[in-house]
Amino acid sequence: MSEESKIVDLEDIAGVGQETARKLRDAGFSTIEAVAVASPSELASAAGISEGNAAKIVQAARKLADIGGFESGDKVFERRKTVKKITTGSKDLNELLGGGVETQAITEFFGEFGSGKTQICHQLAVNVQLPEEEGGLNGSAVIIDTENTFRPERIIQMAEAKGLDGNEVLKNIYVAQAYNSNHQMLLVDNAKELAEKLKKEGKPVRLIIVDSLMSHFRAEYVGRGTLADRQQKLNRHLHDLMKFGELYNAAIVVTNQVMARPDILFGDPTKPVGGHIVAHTATFRVYLKKSQGDLRIARLIDSPHLPEGEAIFKVTERGIEDAEEEQKRKRKKK
Ligand SMILES: Nc1ncnc2c1ncn2[C@@H]1O[C@H](COP(=O)(O)OP(=O)(O)OP(=O)(O)O)[C@@H](O)[C@H]1O
Ligand SMILES: [Mg+2]
Repeated sequence: MSEESKIVDLEDIAGVGQETARKLRDAGFSTIEAVAVASPSELASAAGISEGNAAKIVQAARKLADIGGFESGDKVFERRKTVKKITTGSKDLNELLGGGVETQAITEFFGEFGSGKTQICHQLAVNVQLPEEEGGLNGSAVIIDTENTFRPERIIQMAEAKGLDGNEVLKNIYVAQAYNSNHQMLLVDNAKELAEKLKKEGKPVRLIIVDSLMSHFRAEYVGRGTLADRQQKLNRHLHDLMKFGELYNAAIVVTNQVMARPDILFGDPTKPVGGHIVAHTATFRVYLKKSQGDLRIARLIDSPHLPEGEAIFKVTERGIEDAEEEQKRKRKKK
């Protein structure tokens, strides 16, 4: 197992014994990240240790949490060159995303019920297995399912539409139900162990899906009092996912619900839940909207390097597909 694939706990920080860990937890420093961003004096008074020691602990936690470090531009560039793309099944949607769903990035699909979020997840879990010439990455997929909406039958249907053996395709999709938000977070660690194993077996994990990201967080943290706590956990979860993506050159796809915004009178009165944490961590945010019949509209929101735009695609029995030219034209005229 690599260094990163271990579950790390407060006691793993150099200089933190059981007693100090207990005091830190009691004072609300429950994660390595929380320690890493604390000031030494804060920590010193919380754990009853000297400020010098506290400073060392903060340093050690920063290293473990892998935050706040610099990386030279050429290294970033080297890593960017390894970025790959998975086809969605629709040319228009691929184009909107700059060629497909990217590895080492978080792509968030958000929209109302029935807008096609779960359908896209199923399709990507099939497509990631395709050879590169066909828009895949020859890889396997991991799905963290929080709403119990994974349907193997649907995978078989989509696989067969591509002339693939449905059962073989299912063998490369690893699904876990998350019972609550803590379990959901833990599953990312489990996914790392699985990814290490699959890497050796030649079917590396190239896609990790969380469908849906916020449902447990939203249900468990009601009321404002616990919102800060929720956001801290969510932040950690997203960073764990991002790290997974960088470590295994995998795409990270999350789905999100929308909440009604009665304050907006014109345009679309909805926005994704999760607040600024999700907004800042997701690399691509795609809003999905139902249109006539099987048509869906995707809109890219605040992308740092892609123009805003719209794509039209279809959700049919065969899966995610291109809309007919005539349907696209009609839509553009409107
Ligand atoms: N086998 C199928 N054949 C054709 N269309 C299908 C099939 N399965 C699902 N769909 C389409 O996909 C829609 C469901 O989309 P999906 O489950 O992706 O919604 P969602 O955005 O995940 O919604 P939610 O917020 O409830 O999770 C159905 O309403 C239908 O239009
Ligand atoms: Mg769904």
